[in-house]
Amino acid sequence: MPSAIEFVTNAALNGPTYNGIPTSCRSCPTPLTYSGSLDHLSFFEITPIIGREYPTVKVSDILKSENAEQQIRDLAIVISERGVVFFRDQDDLNISDQKNFCDLLGKYSGRPDENGLHVHPIYRDPGNLSLPDGSTDKNIYVINSEAQKKIYKTMAKRPGTTDEPRDLSREWHSDSTFENVPSDFSFLKMEETPPHGGDTLWCSGYEVYDRVSPSFRSYLETLTATCAQPVFKSAATASGYEIMSPRGSPLNVGDEFAPKHPVVRTNRITGWKAIFAGVGLHVTKINDVYAYEDQMIREYIMRLITRNHDCIARMKWTKNAAAIWNNSCVWHAATPDLVGGNRTGVRASSIGEVPYLDPNSKSRREALNIPIV
Ligand SMILES: [Fe+2]
Repeated sequence: MPSAIEFVTNAALNGPTYNGIPTSCRSCPTPLTYSGSLDHLSFFEITPIIGREYPTVKVSDILKSENAEQQIRDLAIVISERGVVFFRDQDDLNISDQKNFCDLLGKYSGRPDENGLHVHPIYRDPGNLSLPDGSTDKNIYVINSEAQKKIYKTMAKRPGTTDEPRDLSREWHSDSTFENVPSDFSFLKMEETPPHGGDTLWCSGYEVYDRVSPSFRSYLETLTATCAQPVFKSAATASGYEIMSPRGSPLNVGDEFAPKHPVVRTNRITGWKAIFAGVGLHVTKINDVYAYEDQMIREYIMRLITRNHDCIARMKWTKNAAAIWNNSCVWHAATPDLVGGNRTGVRASSIGEVPYLDPNSKSRREALNIPIV
């Protein structure tokens, strides 16, 4: 096990700071080291920068292995380095094992002891879909393209929507950024896939950080963003139910959903810096700058994503395929171009730590000594 990390549980409010940003740890974690326990597994990289696929590995075999703890910790490191990892044909993986595996990824890679699997705020929403066997589980979010549309209809006008063709760049997000303590690992298994469309994309926040000039990186490191998500309260009010609370951490309570997060954060497992709360569905504004500067910074970061498509891995889903990613270093975006069918997936998410920026951490390219080309 990694040594205990002295996280400050209320760091977002009054803990230690660096450049005005909460660091959330008195002594920041030491990056973990891969032990080699997965070297026997075949894989290929999706791109040089992001993503890996293990085409024949069964997650359940890792879970049952004699050295499961070592293998799961090593996989947590691989996921955190590569951003996202794909698996195929996980037909033998049941919900209980999926949840357990996701929880252990966080547990064995040094998240605060008090945290566990996320509970989705609107678990009680009558529009939510059940699991394939008809049951529901507060730690599993059933992702369904049709159900999602109903929930967002409860808001008078979804921010950023117009009558013009859709701007899909607004789909980029990392999971649970609306929480004080967001998710580290998300584990999505696709139960139903359409014949065409519905791909998911992941973009490396490490690499986007590396594409920024050193002077501008220093400036971004001074910023926080407010990540307000009012849709949960509006959906709960519309249907007359209570928001779930707590949600995977003693700090994830209530129904406000407006935390402040650092724009640049350190991944606790790799120790690498990534742009985190600079862009995306749940990021409402960059704090302590004028409105036009807020817009300019967020558009700039989005521009970095759209002009650097070599930072992106794309998953063409197949039935029972799975993806596990680390939300602290990648954003992801679904593609709403489904043709001839629906897309249904089951997702578990582990809650990590209060996001922090370790002043001594490095960028991915700095740490791996890879020049920017
Ligand atoms: Fe998501």
